[in-house]
Amino acid sequence: MKTSIAIYPGSFDPVTNGHLDLIERGEKMFDLLIVGVLQNAEKTPLFSVKERVEMLREVTKQWSDVEIDVFGGLLVDYARKRGAGVILRGIRAVSDYEYELQMALMNRKLEPRLETVFMLPGVSYSFLSSKLVREIAQLGAPLNGLVPPIVEERLRAKIS
Ligand code: PNS
Repeated sequence: MKTSIAIYPGSFDPVTNGHLDLIERGEKMFDLLIVGVLQNAEKTPLFSVKERVEMLREVTKQWSDVEIDVFGGLLVDYARKRGAGVILRGIRAVSDYEYELQMALMNRKLEPRLETVFMLPGVSYSFLSSKLVREIAQLGAPLNGLVPPIVEERLRAKIS
C-alpha cells in the first residue's frame, strides 16, 4: 500500500538502468516519488541539469506517480518544501553503506521527522554507476543494458 511522498535525490549524470530499477521499486511504495536532481555549482557535470531532467522525464514517462524536479541547497529544506517524509536511496554494495549512513544520519540530525529508506537495486545493477557509464562511453565501449537507449544516444552525441 502506498502512503506517502518520497524524494529520490541524486546527480543522475546521466540516469542509468540502476536508477530506473530503483525508481520502479519506489514508485510502487509511495503515493508520489519525486526524483530530485541536485543543482550543484561545485561539480562540473557531463550533462547540464536541463539535459538530465529531459532524459529522466523521457525514461520515466510511463509512471504517473513519478515527478522529476530540480533542487539546490539542503536536501532536508527541499523535502520540507515538498511535504516529503522519506528520502529514498539505493545501496548497491557494502562500499556504498558508509557514505549513505553518514548522509542519512546527518539528514536525521537536521530534520528528525525525515526518514531515509534504503532499497537494493537488482543484482545485475550492483556494479553500475553514472561515473563508470561516462568513462565507458568516453572510451567507446558498448553501453547496452547499462542505460536506456535514449541516454546512450545522448552520451554518444555528447562525446563525439
Ligand atoms: O547521486 P549522488 O551524487 O550520490 O547524490 C548525492 C546527494 C544529491 C543525495 C547529496 O549530495 C545531497 O543530498 N546534496 C544536497 C545538499 C545536502 O543536503 N547536503 C547534506 C547531506 S547530509
